[in-house]
Amino acid sequence: MLTSTQELLETARRNAYAIGAFNVYNLEGVKAVVEAAEALQSPAMLQLHPSALKYGRSPLVALCLEAARAASVPISVHLDHSTSAADIQDALTAGMRSIMADGSPLPYAENLAFTRDMTALAHRYGAVVEAEIGRISGIEDGLTIAEKEAKMTDPDQAVEFVAATGVDALAVTIGNVHGEYKSPPRLDFDRLARIRQRLSIPLVLHGASGLPAEMISRSIQLGVCKFNVNTEVRQAYMATLAGQVCGDDEQDLLDVTQEAIAAMRSVIMEKIRLFGSDGKA
Ligand code: G3H
Ligand code: 13P
Ligand code: ZN
Ligand code: NA
Repeated sequence: MLTSTQELLETARRNAYAIGAFNVYNLEGVKAVVEAAEALQSPAMLQLHPSALKYGRSPLVALCLEAARAASVPISVHLDHSTSAADIQDALTAGMRSIMADGSPLPYAENLAFTRDMTALAHRYGAVVEAEIGRISGIEDGLTIAEKEAKMTDPDQAVEFVAATGVDALAVTIGNVHGEYKSPPRLDFDRLARIRQRLSIPLVLHGASGLPAEMISRSIQLGVCKFNVNTEVRQAYMATLAGQVCGDDEQDLLDVTQEAIAAMRSVIMEKIRLFGSDGKA
């Protein structure tokens, strides 16, 4: 059933588990998420990045909303990392009620103004807003410790930012990175604890691909109730295609497609178990 992100996150937080928000790009991805969630009786989020919307906005939004409505478990549909007012307006108009207004590439004051305006807009539609301060990197290499520190979420600034913008959830930067971790992940749990102590809204951790089980559970204990997962699911999809497509004329398109869905589903089920949302539908 199509459910609000707010309800999913608040319930997760009260019960000390987290919701997996999985990036999807096509029907196969949507099926993989919904099938995994149903198989484990888990809530989940279908997440569309602006790059996916550029590829096929109306059909993808409609597909996600319809799949969520038809699912036997609670599912919400969310716009990931949106840096543009136009994308956010388009998503709201298309019926999405959960967005990430991502002003994190901007200087702090501009991030605050962008997030405040986008939150006011989204709230007029009854939509839920996630924002970010600090800056998640895609690569860790080549940065000094001080440069890494400077990108992390400052707890005092987080309090001010949430009060000034009215956002509903905050993505924190504590050493998490998008994509693969080129060296073993190191998360600043003291920083997360200080943010948690001072903020009561749901916290989000991006870049969950590549995080070991103990870091996931520690993050949940310290208040994270949404994890974003993209890379590992995409890799499962791509690896299956690379391994399955053999150039044989007899090979069936739908057989290959089903294999790809199964590979993604299995990664998603593994994440759902780590997040502890299995059996919580
Ligand atoms: O659902 C409709 C909204 O209240 C309209 O908001 O005036 O920003 O388009 P808007
Ligand atoms: P990963 O690609 O590291 O899983 O990060 C996903 C993400 O944060 C999407 O917003
Ligand atoms: Zn992200
Ligand atoms: Na990652």
